[in-house]
Amino acid sequence: SIIPVILAGGKGERFWPVSRRERPKQFLSLDGSGNTLLQATANRLLNLASGWEKIWVITSEMLASGVQEQLPELPPENCLVEPQGRDTAPAVAWATIEIAKRYGEDAVIGFFPADHWIGNTVKFEATIEAAFDLALSEEVIVTLGMKPTYPSTGYGYIEQGEKIRDNHDISAYSVTRFTEKPDHDTAESFIATERFSWNSGMFIFRAGVVLKELKQYAPDILTPLQEKGKVAYADLPKNSIDYALMEKTQLATVIPTEFGWDDLGDWNALERLFKGDNENVEMGTHLGLDTKGTIVYSSDSEQVVVTLGLEDVVIVRDRNVTLVVKKDRTQDIKKLLKELQADD
Ligand code: GDD
Ligand code: MG
Repeated sequence: SIIPVILAGGKGERFWPVSRRERPKQFLSLDGSGNTLLQATANRLLNLASGWEKIWVITSEMLASGVQEQLPELPPENCLVEPQGRDTAPAVAWATIEIAKRYGEDAVIGFFPADHWIGNTVKFEATIEAAFDLALSEEVIVTLGMKPTYPSTGYGYIEQGEKIRDNHDISAYSVTRFTEKPDHDTAESFIATERFSWNSGMFIFRAGVVLKELKQYAPDILTPLQEKGKVAYADLPKNSIDYALMEKTQLATVIPTEFGWDDLGDWNALERLFKGDNENVEMGTHLGLDTKGTIVYSSDSEQVVVTLGLEDVVIVRDRNVTLVVKKDRTQDIKKLLKELQADD
């Protein structure tokens, strides 16, 4: 079966102030289900991995104890702890090296972000099974393509070529181009052609295939890790797997799929997922008069948020912070945090 690796070292800054340095987005239960995003991610992979023994997590030093707390059944030796955050290229490289050591180069690995929402888990499983079959028999790096709905500049775009496998409703295509985070005009031109999908951020491949590709395209990351192990991190460049490998490799394939997916990029995601027919999204106690299109999130049930004549605003209360931001500026919370940190 597949060996899933959960990428859980990100900061989730755009969900501040609920997402904080020591408790980022993947440690939160944004939908109020009680399960954190990390726990939901692991649970979703349990069947595919046939149990905890084969599930891996790669995360940062600051978050490692939180990972163990949230996933008590994860074998401690399956939790890789990075000494520095160097984005996803080193994370993928190091985890692939360690997994190849333990299970051999023919092991099929799947990388899964820890902080995504997935609607239909049955369809998700079927898609990953198909990706597993493909990765097992071909020399490929399988990506999952999501139908783009707007010219986002925060995603990777995958252009599909010829169909290489037809398996009932799950087909795979060669990839003619992979472009990470294009500018707005490029994104617009991509989606106009209908040949592009969004990269989901999940990757499925045989360990040996990616070791070979990294050796060719990212030796500055792979070689130090192979030679020195995690000590190499201090001197590694910061880069994501999308730029370091996916834009360059000839081995990418894509399975276009729709299982209900959202990468919960910022507060507006709550509206896409939970608004339904309501005027506002309300998590916590909110009394709104003449208020619409507003997202209210309060972790303190004793406190009432009262609004009057408000439109398209996000209000978040958590511990010592209240954030009020216009809906179209939630992407900039990252910048805001930089400013705040510069001040202290
Ligand atoms: N271990 C570890 N170390 N994990 C990390 C690190 C790191 O240094 N940096 C990020 N991660 C984790 C995050 O927690 C997240 O689960 C996943 O890796 C992806 O990182 P993001 O920073 O969220 O990437 P992105 O959203 O900008 O872009 C990626 O995902 C998009 C879909 O959500 C790319 O793959 C895009 O092409 C893709 O469209
Ligand atoms: Mg992301």
